[in-house]
Amino acid sequence: MTRPSWAPEGIDLDRPSASRVYDYFVGGMHNFEIDRELARMIEQFTPNVAETMRANRDMLRRVVRYLTDAGIDQFLDLGSGIPTVGNVHEVAQARNPEARVVYVDIDPVAVAHSQAILAGNDRAIVIAGDVADPEAILSDPGTKDLLDFNRPVAVLLLGVLHFVPDSADPAAAVSRLLEVAAPGSYVSITHATADGQPAEVLEAQKLSGRTSTEIVLRGKDEIAGYFQDWTLLEPGLVHLPLWRPDNPEDVGANPEASGAYGGLAQKG
Ligand SMILES: C[S@@+](CC[C@H](N)C(=O)[O-])C[C@H]1O[C@@H](n2cnc3c(N)ncnc32)[C@H](O)[C@@H]1O
Repeated sequence: MTRPSWAPEGIDLDRPSASRVYDYFVGGMHNFEIDRELARMIEQFTPNVAETMRANRDMLRRVVRYLTDAGIDQFLDLGSGIPTVGNVHEVAQARNPEARVVYVDIDPVAVAHSQAILAGNDRAIVIAGDVADPEAILSDPGTKDLLDFNRPVAVLLLGVLHFVPDSADPAAAVSRLLEVAAPGSYVSITHATADGQPAEVLEAQKLSGRTSTEIVLRGKDEIAGYFQDWTLLEPGLVHLPLWRPDNPEDVGANPEASGAYGGLAQKG
């Protein structure tokens, strides 16, 4: 296929990517037929997958609103994705124009498109990075310039840790990010799970191996462990629609059908 103008040179047009599949599911425009084809196959096994991804994006917005209202004005958003509705800098800067955001993603399309929409915004940048390599992210001049780790910061890990295999030690990576954060900082994590899901979800998980970032489904206890001893805010680590919904009717009849957990914790 021909490379569209928004896609950077050198990307593999014949292989689906996690960020573009997610973009498709949340209603974005930056995906190829090969991504949509994979999305449709995944949907055959897990019909609620699009709903789960939209629930994830909705939770991101609620978390950023909560944090901005709590006085947080700096955000490190890891696995930030292709910009779409409700980007962190838009939600945060609408409430506090001084809010600063560093986006990090491993996918060149996500990075290129983020660069394009952030042009002219001197309080938000994107860097190419791997969440499994926190040192590189923390020592990046852009991160050092925009974020002050001596003050409370929000570390956002929404929908990304399930792309990090055990061999890359996601727990150690999160631990390093939490270690450098000042007291009063927050971390939010959402993570895909097979808990309570139909067996077919494992077929969908296998399909994700067609991208360069295969999904690893983890159980509640393991995901809870990423928060270490930070204090989980109410309602704890829950299925996504249950995390501080804007309206009770947003929760739906069966929130447990959402194939992911989410939570927000604060460093004491
Ligand atoms: C499901 S999207 C989540 C986007 C956004 N955080 C949200 O919650 O709406 C996951 C993103 O993580 C990125 N990603 C996957 N593995 C990564 C890694 N090891 N380091 C950084 N980003 C990664 C993908 O490229 C994709 O853009």
